[in-house]
Amino acid sequence: MSAKIKSVLWEAPLHTLAKISILRAYLSRWFGIFGRSRPRQNLWYVDGFAGPGEYTNSPSGSPVAAIASASEALQSVGPQWKAGKIHCVFIEHDAKRFDHLINKLGSSVGNPNIETHFFNLPFVDGLTALKDQIPNPFSPASPLFAFIDPFGAKGVPFADIKDLLSRNAAEVLINFDSDGIGRIFRAEEAANHEPILNGIFGDDSWKTDWLNIEFRMSYIVASWTYTSKNYAHCRRCIMFLLSRCAPQRTSSTTIWYLQASIISGWRK
Ligand SMILES: C[S@@+](CC[C@H](N)C(=O)[O-])C[C@H]1O[C@@H](n2cnc3c(N)ncnc32)[C@H](O)[C@@H]1O
Repeated sequence: MSAKIKSVLWEAPLHTLAKISILRAYLSRWFGIFGRSRPRQNLWYVDGFAGPGEYTNSPSGSPVAAIASASEALQSVGPQWKAGKIHCVFIEHDAKRFDHLINKLGSSVGNPNIETHFFNLPFVDGLTALKDQIPNPFSPASPLFAFIDPFGAKGVPFADIKDLLSRNAAEVLINFDSDGIGRIFRAEEAANHEPILNGIFGDDSWKTDWLNIEFRMSYIVASWTYTSKNYAHCRRCIMFLLSRCAPQRTSSTTIWYLQASIISGWRK
């Protein structure tokens, strides 16, 4: 359904609000921990599919949540802050959503310790443009957190995520559309599945890995393959399972979603 959204703003379904809650809570801790422990190093947040900054039913898209987490961490750590600045990179391909995001965030950052960088480009080109603008932006020592949140299964090239994850203290939160990947897998040639899945996984290991599994388990296999097998240097995978809940269960729905999340996949 999300692949069909054409408007600048749209209504966030509950799992989207839950996803932003996870991002907001995780980033607050992430900024705080590195802010206290990394003298003079800049902290980098990259929002690769930034969106318009808000929803018709919520004032906080991921960029707003990230800025709020950054401001909160700077304030709560206070004089114990040892790191350099927080750099927030927002990449959004759609021109109207990009303009909306600029208008939304433009006046609200207002903290000299937070620097913003905006790119109206596809994710991959936005990273290249950042590197052109700031040579070696996230030097190996700089902690980096990237949020990769495309519509649907496509648009997240393995090579670029691998490049981000090859750095020290790099973390990537991926909205991994396992249902969409399952649909592409099942549609085979009709969905041009081979090049698409090769691009997502970085190789064609999915052909053998998925041979004998029941496909309702695809989300586990997909996530596991993605994070642990392909990224041998990746030490840890935390999986948040966002599932739909029935309408009658929508009281305190966000909490329900988060409690229902499966957190798993620890790996040495
Ligand atoms: C799921 S929405 C992002 C929502 C946002 N991260 C949030 O949580 O509020 C995906 C966004 O990615 C944008 N987009 C689609 N393809 C893109 C690409 N290749 N590079 C960057 N942005 C893209 C879409 O216009 C859309 O705004």
